[in-house]
Amino acid sequence: MKLEKQLLGQLENRKINGGYRSLKQNVNNLIDFSSNDYLGLSKVEEIHHDHNEFIDNGATGSRLLSGNKAYHEAVENFLSEYFKSESALLFNSGYMANLGVLSSVPQKGDTILLDELSHICIKEGVRLSRANYFNFKHNDLQDLEKKLKKIEEGNIFVVVESVYSMDGDQAPLKEIVELSVQYNANIIVDEAHSTGLYGQSGYGLCCDLELQDQIFARIYTFGKAVGVHGAAVAGSNILKDYLINYSRQFIYTTALPHQSVQVIKNALNYREKHPELWGDLQSKITLFNSLLKNAINKLDSEHPVQGIILGGAAEASNFSKYLNDKGFDVRPILSPTVPKGKERVRICLHAFNSEEEITNLCHHINQYFQ
Ligand SMILES: Cc1ncc(COP(=O)(O)O)c(C=O)c1O
Repeated sequence: MKLEKQLLGQLENRKINGGYRSLKQNVNNLIDFSSNDYLGLSKVEEIHHDHNEFIDNGATGSRLLSGNKAYHEAVENFLSEYFKSESALLFNSGYMANLGVLSSVPQKGDTILLDELSHICIKEGVRLSRANYFNFKHNDLQDLEKKLKKIEEGNIFVVVESVYSMDGDQAPLKEIVELSVQYNANIIVDEAHSTGLYGQSGYGLCCDLELQDQIFARIYTFGKAVGVHGAAVAGSNILKDYLINYSRQFIYTTALPHQSVQVIKNALNYREKHPELWGDLQSKITLFNSLLKNAINKLDSEHPVQGIILGGAAEASNFSKYLNDKGFDVRPILSPTVPKGKERVRICLHAFNSEEEITNLCHHINQYFQ
């Protein structure tokens, strides 16, 4: 068939450029240095088995039809307290939450400024909106201000991640807030990689820096350090009401079922009771960084997301395979997920990785580059 031939051609192109992807399971039980389950909460049985009564296996409809249940509303109240916001609205995933906010809130005539390293769901959300949009250089306040100065009319939105998913570095949130206040811009922060980590209870970077009241919308995702699935947008009651009315990603999809919503609450409660998990992980990050202090092309990160830049798809894949053969589950990250020339091996550290495992991993990384 003509279409399949065309698709095959595109797949062949990926193979030629070294960027071909395929699904892989960790069949050899390699040591996990790859998952976003930074604290190991996905495997805590008590989060799953909470002896709550059986309610349903499916929400049966969208929240605006049959799918709005007492458990959604109860957990949203819990989330708004947890994340110190006036209100919170559940979405089925972080991807959908970012699309939901960015495609519906900014209007024609408005301008969105987004960090150039923003996750693809931020970029797609921005494209789906009718607003003008421009990238600013990664974490570059001067470039952001240069772009803010040029905007003459409409609402302004500044969109950042609190911690970048591939580089593990933080946005300079305090400075971004100061600048945005000066230019009357509304800030949207994707807290995907800080939810469950920062702050005594894991309430993320905005709350840890006490900036929550100056941020228009915060997106918390539960599939990473929280170890479950789903997401929430935290903000004002008006924002919540607006999203319920205008966000297609909220309206036209079946709501999360009871178990999925309940485990979000259970996991956050568990995290709040176990602040030592983040402390333990931080000491492992320090160990990893000290063992690789001379490694060339290592990303500068104090976050569990770490990386070694190889600068080419084949080089990243070869290095990843070398570490897999030594028993470590790490994955190459290729363009277009990261910019061309910045292909890397992404390494995620976990509270459950032992010091010995980390020491061995670093030993093999250092050996590879000798
Ligand atoms: C920064 C960022 N935002 C949003 C998402 C999407 O979140 P979810 O996996 O819940 O769809 C991801 C996931 O990779 C991410 O890294």
